[in-house]
Amino acid sequence: MLVTQQPVLRRFWYPVMPSSHLRETQPQPFQLLGQKIVLWLDAEGQPVATIDRCCHRTAQLSKGTVIDGCIRCPYHGWTYDGDGICVEVPQFTEGQTIPAGYRVQAFRCAERYGYVWVALEEPLLPIPEIPEADQPNVRQIHQFYERWHCSGLRLMENSFDNAHFSFVHVQSFGNQAQPKPADLAVIPTDYGLVMKAEVPVINPPLQQKNLGIAEKTTVRINEQTWYMPFTRTLKISYPNGLMHLIFTAATPIDDRTSQIVQFCLRNDQEADAPAADIIAFDRQVTMEDKAVLESTDYDTPLDLTAEQHMPSDKPGIIMRQKLAALLKQHGEVEQRLV
Ligand code: FES
Ligand code: FE
Repeated sequence: MLVTQQPVLRRFWYPVMPSSHLRETQPQPFQLLGQKIVLWLDAEGQPVATIDRCCHRTAQLSKGTVIDGCIRCPYHGWTYDGDGICVEVPQFTEGQTIPAGYRVQAFRCAERYGYVWVALEEPLLPIPEIPEADQPNVRQIHQFYERWHCSGLRLMENSFDNAHFSFVHVQSFGNQAQPKPADLAVIPTDYGLVMKAEVPVINPPLQQKNLGIAEKTTVRINEQTWYMPFTRTLKISYPNGLMHLIFTAATPIDDRTSQIVQFCLRNDQEADAPAADIIAFDRQVTMEDKAVLESTDYDTPLDLTAEQHMPSDKPGIIMRQKLAALLKQHGEVEQRLV
């Protein structure tokens, strides 16, 4: 599936950047599903997004300036509000009306979990609801914001793949002596799927401190949720009551590149485990995944007849089935390289 060639994928919310990247006067560019967009803060301090192309002579608005919540084109100074309407043409004489056609396309934009989210078309589903984010005594740690050369579906299937730990994660938590994947239960939902599994893992020294568990092995009780098309949460509960919930989105930049957005939620305190140590361990795990994922084909087939699979691939197969059904429902045919 080539993500830029499937218009229905424009009908989902994607986190595009940390809210902290938007400052008062500086617009920020982003590319979502091949669409160049520009983001800035309006007069109320709310994030807004439009196409990154002036309707006059096509200059990039992201190279302009934000003035009083509107964006001013760097070329001739035409200025647009958050709805994409041109509100000022400096060359016009006083009283001259700005034609209605002087406007750029605006996109739905919202702030959630400390990130700016954008939907290019009318969303089919809301921004994923993560109840743990609103619970008292739960802290949020921002972990990664970086570009990977892999497709979102490859990252999603990896996140629900219990068979790779003993190989990819052998330097972190994978148990080489126990390559058989844990039993899993998969429940398809309207918005994706939920998977549950109990996974025995190695508990290396840094994790012993991070988790407050002194043993060299432990058990992860995993509840994982896939939010179509490229967002997931992995809620890990440990025997001592600690929750470590990882949110990961693979926001599609283009057919072969994803913007990785990851944060975690934990029901402990900085004094129990410093955020820097938690990031350090999750960084190691994430880099292990990155190394193998960037070696995979980005043109991910939804039809699995060409790929071998195992029982533990079930969630990845359901993902493909649901995405294929989504395309069909919207009258689209899967687009491939060949
Ligand atoms: Fe933007 Fe002329 S190109 S104002
Ligand atoms: Fe992994």
